[in-house]
Amino acid sequence: MKFSLIPLAALATSTLAKVFYAGVAESGGEFGVWTDNGVGRGLPGRFGSDYAFINKTAIDVMIKDDKINLFRIAFLLELQGKLQSHTDTASFKLSTSTSFTTLSSSIIGDDNDPNAATTQDFKIFFTELAKRFRHNTRVIFGIMNEPHDMPTSLVLKNNQAAIDGIRSTGAKQMILAPANAWSGGHAFTTGNGNEPSSDYLHLMRDPLNNTAIEIHEYLDDNYSGSGANCTQPVTRLDGVTNWLKQHGMKAMITEFGGGVNPGCAQALKDYINYLEEKEVWIGWTAWAAGPLWGYWSPCCQSGQALGSFEPGSRARDGGPGLYDLLWVPVLRPLVPKNLGTHGISSINGTTD
Ligand SMILES: *[C@@H]1O[C@H](CO)[C@@H](O)[C@H](O)[C@H]1NC(C)=O
Ligand SMILES: *[C@@H]1O[C@H](CO)[C@@H](O)[C@H](O)[C@H]1NC(C)=O
Ligand SMILES: *[C@@H]1O[C@H](CO)[C@@H](O)[C@H](O)[C@H]1NC(C)=O
Ligand SMILES: *[C@@H]1O[C@H](CO)[C@@H](O)[C@H](O)[C@H]1NC(C)=O
Ligand SMILES: *[C@@H]1O[C@H](CO)[C@@H](O)[C@H](O)[C@H]1NC(C)=O
Repeated sequence: MKFSLIPLAALATSTLAKVFYAGVAESGGEFGVWTDNGVGRGLPGRFGSDYAFINKTAIDVMIKDDKINLFRIAFLLELQGKLQSHTDTASFKLSTSTSFTTLSSSIIGDDNDPNAATTQDFKIFFTELAKRFRHNTRVIFGIMNEPHDMPTSLVLKNNQAAIDGIRSTGAKQMILAPANAWSGGHAFTTGNGNEPSSDYLHLMRDPLNNTAIEIHEYLDDNYSGSGANCTQPVTRLDGVTNWLKQHGMKAMITEFGGGVNPGCAQALKDYINYLEEKEVWIGWTAWAAGPLWGYWSPCCQSGQALGSFEPGSRARDGGPGLYDLLWVPVLRPLVPKNLGTHGISSINGTTD
C-alpha cells in the first residue's frame, strides 16, 4: 500500500490518531516447560513441541485477512541460545517486537543474588541481539516482559543498559521499554506496592529518542486477564496517559483482552477508541495468538478453554475458537486502516 500526498494531508487535518502499529502477541516461544497435560519436560525444552515462535501460515493469514502490521514475539531468556538457529526461518517481513521473559526466580541485576545475570550481562545480550537484527528495519526491540517484584530503579537501570547495548551497534529501530508492576497501566503512577514507574521511566536516555514505553492492561476485576467480565474501564489508563503527555513520550499496549460477551465487545471498542483519541498511544497487540495454545485460552475466559487468536483455533468442544468468536467480530474491525509496512520502525510510525 502506498501513501499518496492527498490522504496524508487529509490525515494531518482530520485526526490526531497516532496508532501506527496493531496486531497480536504471538505467544509460544517462551513456553519452554509448558505442556497442556501438566507434564513439563524442563528447560531447555524441545523446539516445535515445548516451544515454537510462530506458524508462518497463520501469520500469512493474519496479514492478508486481518491487515495487521505487528506481531509481538516472546521468547524465554533461558532459550536464548536456541534463538539464533530458529529465527533464521522466522518471518520478519512486518514489524516484529521481541520481548523476553524469564522463569528463574533470579532478578537481572540483583547484586545480592550470585545466580542472577548482571545488568552488564543483559546489556551484552541485547548488544548481540541487536547486531543480528540491526539491518532489519521492521524489528522493534522489546526489552523485557512484565518486570515485577523488583525495585523500579532497577527496571530503569536494566532498560537503560538494553537501550545502550542496542544503540552501540548502530541499530536505529524503535525500542519498547517496560513499566514495572507487570507493566500494568493502572499501576503506572501508583506503583501498586512498588515505586511508581512514573517516578523513573522519564529518566531513560535514548540518543535517537526512538524508545516507547510498554504497557499491559486487562479489563477484568483484578487486571490479571483471568476473568471473562470487563469491569475495569479504560479510564484506568488516564494516569499513564497524562504522564506520557507531560513527558512527551509514547507508549504501546502489548497485552490486553476480554471475554466473549457483549459487555467486553463494547469495552474493547471503547478501549481501542481511547487509544486512538490520545496521541501518546502508538500501537497495540492483543493477547494472544501463537502456534501452541491448542484449545487453551491465553486470557480472559474465566477458565473456559475457547482456543486462541491463532487462525483456525478451536475450542475444547471442537466449536469455534477465539479467532472466530472474538478476534474476527470484535477486534479485526478495530484495526486501523492502511497501516504502514515500510520504513524503519519508529515512534512516529512507518512510512509506506
Ligand atoms: C500452521 O497453520 C496452518 C493453518 O492454520 C495449519 O494447517 C497447520 O497445521 C499449522 N502448523 C502447525 C505446525 O501448527
Ligand atoms: C532527543 O530529545 C532531546 C530532548 O528533547 C533533544 O535535546 C535531542 O536533540 C533529541 N535528539 C534527537 C536525535 O532527536
Ligand atoms: C518524531 O517526530 C518528531 C516531531 O516531528 C521529531 O522531533 C522526532 O525527532 C521524531 N523522532 C523519531 C525517532 O523519528
Ligand atoms: C484475579 O482474580 C481471579 C478470579 O477472578 C483469580 O483466579 C486470579 O488468581 C486473580 N489474579 C491475581 C493476580 O490476583
Ligand atoms: C460476569 O457477569 C455476569 C453478568 O453480570 C455474571 O452473571 C457472571 O457471574 C460474571 N462472571 C464472572 C466470572 O464473574
